[in-house]
Amino acid sequence: MFKRTLLALGLSVALIGCGTYNPLDRGDDLPGGSNLEVPSGPLSFSSDVKPILQVCATCHSGGAGGWVYAGQAEAHGAVLAVIDTITPEDSELLIKATGGGGHGGGSFFNVGSDKYQTVATWIAEGAENN
Ligand code: HEC
Repeated sequence: MFKRTLLALGLSVALIGCGTYNPLDRGDDLPGGSNLEVPSGPLSFSSDVKPILQVCATCHSGGAGGWVYAGQAEAHGAVLAVIDTITPEDSELLIKATGGGGHGGGSFFNVGSDKYQTVATWIAEGAENN
């Protein structure tokens, strides 16, 4: 728990605390996607993360690639199965969502975008079902 808190703090500083220059900010959300601000403070799975992942249900409610995600009651458990709370950027969820690893669904947001940082920060904060 202590390690996790340290990690969350460290990541929050890295992601949010840099003011004008953010070394992780390598791009904005892709054209066509809404450009949301990274919310501050403890992030919420239901109000911050789920809306970003809603698009994934288009294919994954049918279990594309073996990952079932419908954005319903199963959502939190399904997400836990594809994230890495120790090293958030190694999460399969973030790799696939940014088109990495030859994602069959393509790319939905860029590394460093507001959406990316929102999901990565929520993971670093412990990926709670909140
Ligand atoms: C247009 C359809 C489509 C959409 C939308 C889509 N995907 Fe996928 N996804 C696939 C297909 C097809 C595969 C299987 C091939 C592969 O591994 O890339 C896959 C595979 C995956 C896997 C690997 C599953 C496993 O267990 O190996 C993950 C994780 C994943 N997608 C996450 C996401 C996330 C997160 C989103 C939303 C940001 C998303 N996908 C949106 C089509 C889609």
